[in-house]
Amino acid sequence: EERYMKVCVVGTGYVGLTTGVSLAFLGHQVTCVDLDQHKVDMLNGGRCPIYEPGMDELLAEAAGNLTFTTSYSDGVPGADVVFVAVQTPSAPDGSPDLRYLRSAAESVAGNLDHDFTVVVNKSTVPIGSGNWVDAILRESFAQRADRPAGCEFSVASNPEFLREGNAIHDTLFPDRIVIGSDNPRSLEVLNQLYRPIINQTFTAPSFSPRPDDIGAVPLVSTDLASAELIKYAANAFLALKISYANEIGQLAAKVGADITEVTRGMGLDQRIGSRFLQAGVGWGGSCFGKDTKALIATAAEYNYSMPIVQAAREVNDRQRLIAVERLQDELRILKGRKIGLLGVAFKPNTDDLRDSPSLDIANLLLARGARVRLHDPIAGERFKREQPDLAPYFSDTIDALFDDCDAVVLVTEWAQYLELDWSKFVGLMRTPILLDGRHVLDADRMARLGYKYLAIAG
Ligand code: UDX
Repeated sequence: EERYMKVCVVGTGYVGLTTGVSLAFLGHQVTCVDLDQHKVDMLNGGRCPIYEPGMDELLAEAAGNLTFTTSYSDGVPGADVVFVAVQTPSAPDGSPDLRYLRSAAESVAGNLDHDFTVVVNKSTVPIGSGNWVDAILRESFAQRADRPAGCEFSVASNPEFLREGNAIHDTLFPDRIVIGSDNPRSLEVLNQLYRPIINQTFTAPSFSPRPDDIGAVPLVSTDLASAELIKYAANAFLALKISYANEIGQLAAKVGADITEVTRGMGLDQRIGSRFLQAGVGWGGSCFGKDTKALIATAAEYNYSMPIVQAAREVNDRQRLIAVERLQDELRILKGRKIGLLGVAFKPNTDDLRDSPSLDIANLLLARGARVRLHDPIAGERFKREQPDLAPYFSDTIDALFDDCDAVVLVTEWAQYLELDWSKFVGLMRTPILLDGRHVLDADRMARLGYKYLAIAG
């Protein structure tokens, strides 16, 4: 039996917004709190501040159950569940800066008012942060002169595994849901909250249909520390799976093997699986780099090292350099050469630039004296805003990027690039060198069109 709940989500960044809008779509009453008045106004006007396929439509469908506010007192009182999904930027030493999380926890504690509230830590935070949030809540609550009697709360962890660009699909049709708390009552509330997803009883939105093969979604209900570790362990495993494919890819090039065939042959083994085995310029984005680093840092606090995770990071850094060296091997001299990079987003279907391979590759090329041009079908505006140093190198058109180019690198495998009229552009180039950074183009076809086709690996 389903019971709809009152939910508050603090922070309308990527994770917070997806969580809030999805829960409202499922029927819960959701209030999203964000201190940024401009964002709140946009969202109340039905406009979405992030680029995510389907989000505008979901926002419209969920509108009746959803409000946005800048005030904690509009959302926290009476909520069964409060999600905290504020940003945790990296401090200069690489550790996450938890000041926003602290102040959010203090504001939540200042507004708790009824018998039982589950406070869910949704920000990606180091293992053990659940306890830390719990301590802040208790301290701040105890300091309140107006604290109501009989008001209980407990902290839970509910990691998300959504991929940017697939956020809605991954939220509504997940492989599993993980909830962790040391308080059984919290686990019961979250189990109830996610019933519609676990049992798949909701009507799927037209723009994100239910996959045919989905059954009941498994629920992993566990203790706080385990839930926190699952998130890191899973992300680091995916990162090292890709790095492993990239390491094999370099060997494949040396022995004359085709990495696409090799990973296909590997991935068909059910124990390995074919996903996240695509070799190329390596991984980027907000999670893999940060999470592998945090895992190593946590281990170090316990006097333990994680050489496998460390190696996955090193292989990933090396991949970006290899892209530049492939070009240098081919062109001999990079100084003065015009090199076009297709794609600045860290992957297709997002405008997110965090840890994008393109940025590193562009900077490495510039450092070697090349003239760089970058293009992206969606992330251009954000790129110009967030990367002022590289902004002058941005080309608004693909024509301008190819024009008189010595080499073009496909860095982000946007559908627009795969469907490009490649026959038209080859004639614009000075030397038609094409480096496929993702192994997604048809090598024979490109060669027939007149390109000198290169891959990162064999
Ligand atoms: C990831 C995880 O998938 C998600 O579960 C987690 O919660 C957050 O981090 P995201 O960062 O959105 O999601 O991107 P994802 O689709 O996982 O891709 C990560 C990077 O790996 C991208 O740069 C992508 O290009 C690269 N990648 C992915 C490969 O190089 N090869 C592959 O086979 C798959």
